[in-house]
Amino acid sequence: MCGIVGAIAERNVVEILLEGLKRLEYRGYDSAGVALLDSDGNLTRIRRTGKVKELADALHKEPVKGSVGIAHTRWATHGGVTEANAHPHFSSERVAVVHNGIIENYQHLRAELSAKGYGFSSDTDTESIAHQVHYELDQGADLLQAVQTAVSKFEGAYGTVIIDKLEPERMIVARSGSPLVIGFGIGENFIASDQMALLPVTRRFMYLEEGDVAEVTRTSVIVYDQSGQVVERDIIESDIEHDAGDKAGYRHYMLKEIHEQPSVVRNCLQGRLGEHDISPNIFGQGADEVLANIKHVQIVACGTSYHSGMTAKYWLEQYANVSCNVEIASEFRYRKSFVHPNSLLVTISQSGETADTLAALRLAKSLGYSSSLTICNVPGSSLVRESDLAFMTLAGAEIGVASTKAFTTQLTGFLMLTLALGKHNGMSDVDHKAIVDGLHSLPSKLEETLSLTQGIKDLAEEFADKHHSLFLGRGDQYPIAMEGALKLKEISYIHAEAYASGELKHGPLALIDDEMPVIVVAPNNELLEKLKSNVEEVRARGGIMYVFADKEAHFQSDKTMRVINVPHCAAAIAPIIYTLPLQLLSYYVAIIKGTDVDQPRNLAKSVTVE
Ligand code: G6P
Repeated sequence: MCGIVGAIAERNVVEILLEGLKRLEYRGYDSAGVALLDSDGNLTRIRRTGKVKELADALHKEPVKGSVGIAHTRWATHGGVTEANAHPHFSSERVAVVHNGIIENYQHLRAELSAKGYGFSSDTDTESIAHQVHYELDQGADLLQAVQTAVSKFEGAYGTVIIDKLEPERMIVARSGSPLVIGFGIGENFIASDQMALLPVTRRFMYLEEGDVAEVTRTSVIVYDQSGQVVERDIIESDIEHDAGDKAGYRHYMLKEIHEQPSVVRNCLQGRLGEHDISPNIFGQGADEVLANIKHVQIVACGTSYHSGMTAKYWLEQYANVSCNVEIASEFRYRKSFVHPNSLLVTISQSGETADTLAALRLAKSLGYSSSLTICNVPGSSLVRESDLAFMTLAGAEIGVASTKAFTTQLTGFLMLTLALGKHNGMSDVDHKAIVDGLHSLPSKLEETLSLTQGIKDLAEEFADKHHSLFLGRGDQYPIAMEGALKLKEISYIHAEAYASGELKHGPLALIDDEMPVIVVAPNNELLEKLKSNVEEVRARGGIMYVFADKEAHFQSDKTMRVINVPHCAAAIAPIIYTLPLQLLSYYVAIIKGTDVDQPRNLAKSVTVE
């Protein structure tokens, strides 16, 4: 989704801005632009639709310089993908603005400002920020005051950076609902919507809080809270290890991230899983005391993270004896829900910034939950900062839009949460031992599963010309089938639907023919025989099946069924293991189709608008 980079320095900041934008490409976008202010007070702007490369080419063709600059990658919400709608937006060649989020009352502001003579040249909500700030400047305010007054008129969400040609010594930034981080250099300072953009220039970061407005000069940063008081915000040293620029020899980030799963799951377990049990307080300080009283879990998330929550529901109810509801964040936040006594709210998110999930957490604070826990991959993100407890998945930066290693580490975290809650709710010793042993074996089982790559590559050939597909699973493999279907549609653009296989005869059987591949996940569990009957139902109707199965499940390949044997594993970890072949299948189908695997069309990595 939209990305922001800003810099104020003595040197020319063009390359810093471009490198920052490149590092934000993974978030998904459709146009890019930069505005630069040079020492003679010239404000120049270059914008392009398409990739950052087009913008970089344009900037290298007609070199532009500036020691103050703002840059943006736009993911269209209001107004189509055109150069005129790309950021930065100007007001009369004086004020320049980049913005993430949505100004919901922009039509009202636009009408007011147009009536006052401010001319609009785009269809965006953002342009009203530029003109509103300009209007306040015209009333005699300086840039800081102008922004403070302007933001009080905005409804909706914004992370915004504003420069004024007449005040080249500072940039003003404001945050409400969309994350912004300030990066500290030596004699130069930076701004971004994601610390990833600034890793080549600094490791020292300050996250702005809701309602903050900050003045950033080359040598200082002053933060004002919502009431206009100067406030201190912590500066953190980032220890983020992975470099977004590094594909480690893989063709795509997604493939690299799929292959990293054994090692990141190992990281996730390290220091948290002892020989016979989990260590104390792995969900945060004081967590064990909080978890001891929990009788119900409400999980809220979006996308892939929602699927990990759905899987967790099976585990929490089967093994830990706590009831669990799972809901999509955008639904949860807009309805009245019932809060059970002694409930824990669990949000799951790779990015920690997904707008709906964050809004759901904020709403839940007023609803009477005993506590909130986030299972998240990005330290310092909004969900981590605003939750009572946090479990970091330690998957390292995930760049591919389609989530892979974040998902499997979330599931690893959930199995440990199952152990933690089960302890207080009568989990059997047998189940406890099975999960602990399963977790110990998980990294090596994941490694073994990656060896299926060649077989899956061959199989992918058979999918490339298909337009529809069906994924089937039962029990805790049903959410894995859903995740498999999501992966396939995200990166190969093949329509894919997932069904709990018991539902087949209630509709989807009508779709079965030899043009509709059916993918089945079939570990050797207590539902195997039921699943086999469902497979027969498909076979009887001429369906072509691809079955990922445990060897012991005794499926045989024949002309209507291709069987791919997945390494035998403990039942508790099977959903994590069976995720990998489905990720690989989507990846290799997308390769054959030639899609943009890491940045699939229309999608964004971090969805910071609702
Ligand atoms: C976007 C991403 C998905 C992700 C979802 C939730 O749609 O493309 O991969 O699962 O957001 O994101 P989160 O960061 O909250 O896990």
